Amino acid sequence: MNTFPDHQPLLLYHAAQLVTPIGRALKHGRDMGRLKIIPDAAVYIEGDIIKDVGSTEELQKKYNSGNMERIDLTGKVILPGFVDSHTHFVFGGYRPEEFIMRLSGAQYLDIMKMGGGIQSTVDATRKTSAETLFNDGLKRLDDMLSMGVTTVEGKSGYGLDRDCELKQLEILKRLNSEHILDIEATYMGAHAVPRDYPGGSGAYIDFMLKDVLPLVREKNLARFSDIFCEEGVFTIQESERYLRSCKDMGFDTKIHADEIIPLGGGELAARIGCVSADHLLAVSGEGIRMLAESDTAATLLPCTAFCLNKPYAPARKLIDAGCAVALASDYNPGSCFTNSIPLIFSLAVIHMGMTIEEALCSLTLNGAGALKKADTIGSIEQGKKADIAVLAYPDYRFLVYHSAKNIVAMVIKNGKVVSNRLFSA
Ligand code: NIG
Ligand code: FE
Repeated sequence: MNTFPDHQPLLLYHAAQLVTPIGRALKHGRDMGRLKIIPDAAVYIEGDIIKDVGSTEELQKKYNSGNMERIDLTGKVILPGFVDSHTHFVFGGYRPEEFIMRLSGAQYLDIMKMGGGIQSTVDATRKTSAETLFNDGLKRLDDMLSMGVTTVEGKSGYGLDRDCELKQLEILKRLNSEHILDIEATYMGAHAVPRDYPGGSGAYIDFMLKDVLPLVREKNLARFSDIFCEEGVFTIQESERYLRSCKDMGFDTKIHADEIIPLGGGELAARIGCVSADHLLAVSGEGIRMLAESDTAATLLPCTAFCLNKPYAPARKLIDAGCAVALASDYNPGSCFTNSIPLIFSLAVIHMGMTIEEALCSLTLNGAGALKKADTIGSIEQGKKADIAVLAYPDYRFLVYHSAKNIVAMVIKNGKVVSNRLFSA
């Protein structure tokens, strides 16, 4: 199909470096660290598609006539836009009191058992109007974009009943059509068992499978289905039954696995072919081995471990074993109230033993792979979508060296400059 560009072609040139993974599928193990680095680089974009990538000399010769916008990126780095493949960014209310309780030793799961945690955000989200959730969503997306995120996943899971779950998913759909950022939606009714649910977790799973998921499917509201497999939430057996049924209904699946207690969620994800197993702070050796042999992305969420003050997921072991590691924020009002991409880079490299190159792959191509979108986004290559982040410094290693700082100076989304701090003082 022809696409008719609604804006002039764009030539980015004289970038100090262009740094990108290359490929259209998840990268595993040591391959994650093999990036393409082009000095004095240029990119030629038509419409929303990358048409050419190379040295400035080469591309300036090829594209020397015709109308086009030209941007001189001397002293800057060109990277693929970041893909944040795990967030819960549509929610009502905040939970600062829990954060303070945790600082004095209270445990995340104990707060949840006492009726706080996810359930308190469910109460607040049910009470919040769709308009407010939508407007807050817009602001949160703007903030993500300013850090170079060009695609984000967003989960429901703060409604738990049918209508409020659908409300969250409808909001994600509207945000996707009204905000420039691309959003992939995940149904996560299986985030917790609703308080006092008659029949408990088994009956609630039946309810989701029978009364909610068919509607989500019919209205095309989510590509993925996700479950919180954790002690006191959903068991391994329940998670397996649920995710297998979701797959039968046509959903791709994800799992919050081995976040706090090692239940075998990593193993389950590999066994049944989830697109990603997320968290994995407490993944077992067998889980690592099985994930390494699978096409399931091991999605690590360093900011959650940081905010919960737990040991980080064993990123080095996962990569050395051959897993495909993605990094994401887990942005949510409870366990991890931050969407900071710079903090993810710092924690992954300084505390989890990843190299900067691996971290970069994890937040671009492997983030895309964790959303089954590696064929269209996540790298700077001919034919991929023109989603690009430009750094204010001449070397990509400033991503970690300039620790926890947002050094994204410009964002190009769908081939258009949508955020530009390059030329401000
Ligand atoms: O990924 N662990 C379950 N879900 C979220 C936390 C949600 C919340 O605390 O509101 C997570 O950490
Ligand atoms: Fe999460």
